[in-house]
Amino acid sequence: MAEVAGDRDRGQLWHGRFDRGPAEELVAFTESLSYDQRLLVDDVRCSKAHVRGLHRAGVLSTDELGAVLGALDAVEMEFRAGELAFLPSDEDVHTAIERRVTDLAGPAGAKLHTGRSRNDQVATAFRHHLRRELGVIAARVLDLVETLAARAAEAGSDDDAAYLPGYTHLQQAQPVLLAHHLMAHGWALLRDLDRLGDALVRVDVSPLGAGALAGTSLPIDPVATAEDLGFGAVFENSLDATSDRDFVAEPLFVLTMIGIHLSRLGEEVVLWTTEEFGFARLDDAYATGSSMLPQKKNPDVAELARGKAGRLIGDLTGLLATLKSLPLAYNRDLQEDKEPMFDALDTVRMGLGAMTGVFRTVTFDTERMRSAADTPTSVATDLAEHLVREGTPFREAHAVVGALVRRSLDEDLDLAALVGEDPRLGAAGVALFEPGAAVRNRTSRGGAGPAPVRLQQERLAARLVSERARWSGGDGERGLQR
Ligand code: ARG
Repeated sequence: MAEVAGDRDRGQLWHGRFDRGPAEELVAFTESLSYDQRLLVDDVRCSKAHVRGLHRAGVLSTDELGAVLGALDAVEMEFRAGELAFLPSDEDVHTAIERRVTDLAGPAGAKLHTGRSRNDQVATAFRHHLRRELGVIAARVLDLVETLAARAAEAGSDDDAAYLPGYTHLQQAQPVLLAHHLMAHGWALLRDLDRLGDALVRVDVSPLGAGALAGTSLPIDPVATAEDLGFGAVFENSLDATSDRDFVAEPLFVLTMIGIHLSRLGEEVVLWTTEEFGFARLDDAYATGSSMLPQKKNPDVAELARGKAGRLIGDLTGLLATLKSLPLAYNRDLQEDKEPMFDALDTVRMGLGAMTGVFRTVTFDTERMRSAADTPTSVATDLAEHLVREGTPFREAHAVVGALVRRSLDEDLDLAALVGEDPRLGAAGVALFEPGAAVRNRTSRGGAGPAPVRLQQERLAARLVSERARWSGGDGERGLQR
């Protein structure tokens, strides 16, 4: 059994109890450094708060504090410069940092891990990381909603605004303003923003000071370190603090939901850019060609937005399966929390960016939309509602119009002509066939016609202003403004 190369005396953090080094297979199977180095900057920041706490507790002298803080800064600088050399014995990022701090700061460095376990350390660093990264996601969600809102504004909401068929069951149902359709996706994404904010409240809790599972005998102050790190709250129970991964599962669900919303948006781009629909044309920068078919222009971004929802669902269900039935408190299974979350953050961030580009640059063929929407049958409901206004019960009106539609189809007759001949409908009914009338008549609040859409656009614009203010720290230290 091959032992991992390296100086055993300063290898694994836990070497003291062992009389031989770990097997290569163990190291290969259990290491997390290859991916958790993404937490390095967060872990350095949290370690600084921890050593300041140790100094306040009298565990570190002022000189030792200076030496350890300086070494932590140096580790971060080396890492950012790509100069931090990792060793095979560095099991995870926490081990690597402590080893390097001890190299640089000498005996003082060996005090870094006092009163702390990697169990509270990793949860602290991961929460710290998520506060920032979820803020970045929120800012990208807002970019996309703003783009949808801008395209909706361009599509208009006055009497000659663009409209297209609205569908249920993917069968033409009633025409809707293009602005209405675009904003529908915007509101869905704004719910995701709400969910992110809500999940962040529970991410924003410091577990630092919980130790391995039970706290410590040293006089540390978890409240003070939480404040130092800008956390909104501090853990109540050390067992819960070290074993809780709700703070990963919950935002992972939100990321998955965003991915599902992107997939639905993507599916519409796929449909709209087909020759059969012809409602939209992709910009060359956001389309791909075929290696064999020279004429092809493919919507690969939209298709991958659709396809990658599958992997996000996998990330979420994989983590939930990992968490199921775990006994308290920390179990190494929990190390499996990071890869799905990192994958989801990358997938969703890139997907949002690419779909924002698609919607920024796509060209809508509003003539084609209009002619697809202005079919005789698109006014069927308006004919029935006209009868309702004249006092006919709706169910009866529905049957009258249904019979006219059936007759026009069976006998290949013009529906408007049949309506004109019908004494219950007549000229007033025929007027409903005027192009665009069916969409102009959608007047109820939240509906698809010009009047409610104008109100909706105002409300969406106001909401976007307040969301931008709320998430303005999105690329900075904190995502959510408290
Ligand atoms: N790499 C570990 C993780 O991500 C850190 C905690 C390890 N703790 C332990 N007791 N082995 O979960």
